[in-house]
Amino acid sequence: MTDHSPGKAGAPTRRAVVEGCALIGALGIGGFGFRPMEARAEAPAPGDPAPQTMPVRLTINGKAHDLTLDTRTTLLDTLREHLALTGTKKGCDHGQCGACTVLVDGRRINSCLTLAAMHEGDDITTIEGLAEGDTLHPMQAAFIQHDGFQCGYCTPGQICSAVGMLNEAKDGFPSHVTDDLAGKTSLNDAEIRERMSGNICRCSAYPNIVAAIRDTAGTKL
Ligand code: FES
Ligand code: FES
Repeated sequence: MTDHSPGKAGAPTRRAVVEGCALIGALGIGGFGFRPMEARAEAPAPGDPAPQTMPVRLTINGKAHDLTLDTRTTLLDTLREHLALTGTKKGCDHGQCGACTVLVDGRRINSCLTLAAMHEGDDITTIEGLAEGDTLHPMQAAFIQHDGFQCGYCTPGQICSAVGMLNEAKDGFPSHVTDDLAGKTSLNDAEIRERMSGNICRCSAYPNIVAAIRDTAGTKL
């Protein structure tokens, strides 16, 4: 039976531990000392062509990485399996959920739908690269302030997508997005929901996610 009793004096409660883990996973901060994993060696199916590898240099969160990759390796698998950047999550692996969203040259993409080898020379930012040292990105701070997550699995993708979305809005999309002279961006809730519709939250934290984005849109990023 699950133990819901309060923790002993000085000992963390089960709820505190679960919430702490969700926070670390959601924001891509700290971590559990993950080490880069070996690429998964899956047994080739009979008749499969031999894998072709190639050298690839990727710039991720401002740091260059020289890798030798199977040409078919997605950017998502490269981040998670080769570089231990596990903040970026794999949900559907088919471009349907947005959990794998990262920023490439400031624009949001589904990293499960693109090959790593296509991104030499690009500036890739993952959830781990948004904070400046100990200072959270304003979008990360707003997600905490507004309780914009429950399990936290979708949250790295939500945050990266929201940052990219505000960049798009600032680039002067439709007329009902108002850019004022201070560089602030005003979006109404319907606009935010529409623009974030590619990011699914199984916990249905949508009202709080929208509130976090609405607040951040009012600050200059
Ligand atoms: Fe990429 Fe779902 S894992 S969209
Ligand atoms: Fe759980 Fe979004 S917070 S899936």
